Amino acid sequence: MTKLIIDTDPGIDDAMAIFYAAAAPDIDLLGLTTIFGNVTTKTATRNALRLLEAAGLDLPVAHGAEAPLVLPPFTPSAHVHGDEGFGDIPAATPKGKPVEEDAADFLIRMAREHKGELVLCPIGPLTNIAIAIQRDPEFAQNVKRIVIMGGSLEEGGNITPHAEANIYHDPHAAEVLFASGARVEMVGLDVTHRILCTKDDFSGIAASSPQLGGMLQEMSVFYLHFYETVGKFDGCSLHDPAAVIACTHPELFTARSVPMEVSCEGDTSGETRLSGEEGRKPIDVYMAVDAEAVKSLFLNRLAILP
Ligand code: BDR
Ligand code: CA
Repeated sequence: MTKLIIDTDPGIDDAMAIFYAAAAPDIDLLGLTTIFGNVTTKTATRNALRLLEAAGLDLPVAHGAEAPLVLPPFTPSAHVHGDEGFGDIPAATPKGKPVEEDAADFLIRMAREHKGELVLCPIGPLTNIAIAIQRDPEFAQNVKRIVIMGGSLEEGGNITPHAEANIYHDPHAAEVLFASGARVEMVGLDVTHRILCTKDDFSGIAASSPQLGGMLQEMSVFYLHFYETVGKFDGCSLHDPAAVIACTHPELFTARSVPMEVSCEGDTSGETRLSGEEGRKPIDVYMAVDAEAVKSLFLNRLAILP
């Protein structure tokens, strides 16, 4: 079993990733930490609690940073995920509350308690992870693996020609992680752009899982529509589910092990690129994927949910 914490900005594909983790028999989900990105951090915490309650999971949610490390706070992009994060599904107030610790302190404590075993899967901007690294010099080594959804090496960006959205929203935080010496795996656009889900796939999910799959299908209408507005008619990318799947099935991906850095200024801000810095530890950048296998896992495992 993989002991997993997901750091998330839910978000439509975040919801898909979290429900996948709830269904996966090889994942022991220990909690969620929240971050701004697709929505504000306040909305992310509300949405994270709501997803866990929908899935019947009583797990801790820790509220994260409300602004990037250095850049000013920004307005989330409602045109991709909707005003409330779940497409046209209206906001709803969850019953539960976040834990008192903030996300970075929660991550630091969990990494100590599960030293050498905890896998962290950040699927939003990396601010909480950078704060944890800055607060605790041992954090990077206590965590077994940090498998991020973000960045790209050869594929270019999706929010600017150079930058992927999660890295763009806090490039300084990504640079802290890449320079930290942690065991990092990068599930970026080089692979997530190859894993596509169509309207028919979501109808199939809803047919076998009316409650949770039905919720994803409803959200997917908004998400697929966004993809069509940018000229992509063959489905939406499973960005965040791909990162969670890489946590348990790295053999479905092919990596290049290279030192990486992040541009933090100018037109290229948020670009992830090879670093020439002496001594920088290489990270595993996933460059190829068995997209059919990843998609099959996603569809088949969601099918067992209510
Ligand atoms: C990433 O940005 C967000 O919009 C998605 O949830 C995903 O984490 C893709 O670039
Ligand atoms: Ca996300």
